[in-house]
Amino acid sequence: MNHEEQVRDYRAAVERALDHLLPPATVQPRRLHEAMRYAVLGDGKRIRPILTYATGEALGVPRHILNPPACAVELIHAYSLIHDDLPAMDDDDLRRGRPTCHRAFDEATAILAGDALQALAFRSLAHGELPGVGAAQRLAMVEHLADASGSRGMVGGQALDLDAVGRDLSLAELENMHIHKTGALIRASVRLGALASPEAGEDLMEQLDQYAKCVGLAFQVRDDILDVEGDTAVIGKPQGSDMAANKPTYTSLLGLEGARETCDRLYRKAIESLEPLGAGAETLRWLARYIIQREK
Ligand code: FPP
Ligand code: MG
Repeated sequence: MNHEEQVRDYRAAVERALDHLLPPATVQPRRLHEAMRYAVLGDGKRIRPILTYATGEALGVPRHILNPPACAVELIHAYSLIHDDLPAMDDDDLRRGRPTCHRAFDEATAILAGDALQALAFRSLAHGELPGVGAAQRLAMVEHLADASGSRGMVGGQALDLDAVGRDLSLAELENMHIHKTGALIRASVRLGALASPEAGEDLMEQLDQYAKCVGLAFQVRDDILDVEGDTAVIGKPQGSDMAANKPTYTSLLGLEGARETCDRLYRKAIESLEPLGAGAETLRWLARYIIQREK
């Protein structure tokens, strides 16, 4: 299997597992369940669960054991997108090329769908079958996901982001915002995959964390580049929307060329971090490349 096929396979695996985990739309409260399924089962890239699978498999963990953490990170991501699109936040009508959840349903249903997806993420970790994973590791997964999602992680980053609209940020402030808003969940995606392996000692965890930090930031720099030069139809949201909202971005602070150089530097550092993993980490290397070259 080449890397594209491998990643397609991971995507299909998490989509199957999510479909199974989400309550059926035929079960009451139907509209809420429909909204949850609508938000999760659309056309996502599934980068976070793919990172979980690729990290776990690089450490020899069988694929099916990675389903619960892979679902958990994607559910947190899906909830964050629903809430991010709400009128009180970014007020967006379009996500993944379709109406946002509150547009397709209504605002109250969208808020509740996000809340319920967050709860389901933690249920996936608490209840999911994790043969060979000890109770301490399972608890560590819960703790890492909670930290990455909460006020010291993604939600904190979102607060910094909302605070920054219309204000000039320094490069350090911009980076700090992204490290929390997007980086924390990407780091958790890698960490949860590694926690499924009894092999992963502290040193290896450190190296993987370095990889995840670089990939997380590179992901955001690429996002800012796409906002300038991407194609609305491909990126699934209006091109230029960050600029229009007067949001600080890497491209506004560094210029397009500077942002590209930053992306390349982060890519090289990500690859260096994987050295101790040898050939087993090829998919993680491919993913780092994919993230800095992606068109959507
Ligand atoms: C695009 O991901 C999304 C991001 C870069 C995430 C930004 C972070 C937030 C919106 C946090 C918001 C938090 C709260 C609590 C409201 P992607 O390109 O992987 O999207 P895809 O899944 O559609 O491919
Ligand atoms: Mg947004």
